[in-house]
Amino acid sequence: MIPLLLETVDLVRHFPVRNAFGRRTGSLRAVDGVSLSARAGETLGLVGESGCGKTTLGKTVMGIYRPTGGEIRFLGREIGALPAVARRKVARDLQYVYQDPGASLDPRWKVVHSLHEPLKIHTNLSRAERDAEVQAILHAVGLPDAHLDLYPHELSGGQQRRVGLARILTLRPRMVILDEPTSGLDVSVQASVLKLFRSLQETFELTYLFISHDLSVVRAMCQRIAVMYLGKIVESGDTHAVFKHPRHPYTQSLLAAVPRIGGRRVTLEFALTGEPPNPRDVPSGCRFRTRCPLAQDLCADEEPPLRAVGGGLVACHFA
Ligand SMILES: Nc1ncnc2c1ncn2[C@@H]1O[C@H](COP(=O)(O)OP(=O)(O)O)[C@@H](O)[C@H]1O
Ligand SMILES: [Mg+2]
Repeated sequence: MIPLLLETVDLVRHFPVRNAFGRRTGSLRAVDGVSLSARAGETLGLVGESGCGKTTLGKTVMGIYRPTGGEIRFLGREIGALPAVARRKVARDLQYVYQDPGASLDPRWKVVHSLHEPLKIHTNLSRAERDAEVQAILHAVGLPDAHLDLYPHELSGGQQRRVGLARILTLRPRMVILDEPTSGLDVSVQASVLKLFRSLQETFELTYLFISHDLSVVRAMCQRIAVMYLGKIVESGDTHAVFKHPRHPYTQSLLAAVPRIGGRRVTLEFALTGEPPNPRDVPSGCRFRTRCPLAQDLCADEEPPLRAVGGGLVACHFA
């Protein structure tokens, strides 16, 4: 059995809602009881419409937000409630990549400086050892040595991204959370970025949590996927199985919206209309029921738990 690298148990992150006088009037339930796990070396996809809580989940796992409840286990250890100093040590192993990692480079620093800096702060490597490490990582992201001597503005957008990734990799993380890493890229550039992620995964033995609203990208990259709706996972399983036979009506509707390639069959077809409900005011029972064509009285009364169906997990009374 491949060991679990990351596991969240009933992870919750709410944001306070305040009125004009600053008084707390409620909670925005951005992440509302999420249990998922990533095995060492895999790419786990997290999909769902904008606003469903993907980024909040990623940032809570990262420690950028403190959990409101639940647990985060990393390498078998609970890290969600660690004090700041201990948490920072874990942070080396767990990195978060924003949409455009190149954007965070300091414009006044040459590439060589940007890449040495994390090693200076976090390791005791000698100058020569750091040089060797930086060079190896630069090659791994597909850049020539000559780029070490350039400033960010002298690089193309794609090259900046590569340097941004290289900077993260200098710390040799075990897991990288990629948050919408291909959004805003041309399709041709997208393909080369995905290829780079794959080769880096192999070279550095990385585990990815791959967050995207783009189902075709997730399908190409991930061994397993989790589908999120309004702060909850509604379905998860092997990517191939979920795409072939989606069981939750929400997953079915998401997939129905993806252009068909090779005559894929979807059991139920309906277009997802309207917006998801406000996470400050979540529907009772099943939170998808207000947009679900299968909804019955039961769905308003009882929240369906995630249960095992055909090798995956599904939260629907009728799946
Ligand atoms: N820092 C924050 N403060 C208050 N509300 C937030 C904050 N970050 C996100 N939210 C809200 O939480 C919900 C989930 O947002 P987000 O995690 O960004 O979703 P996604 O990444 O899936 O688009 C949204 O309703 C969003 O407005
Ligand atoms: Mg997001």
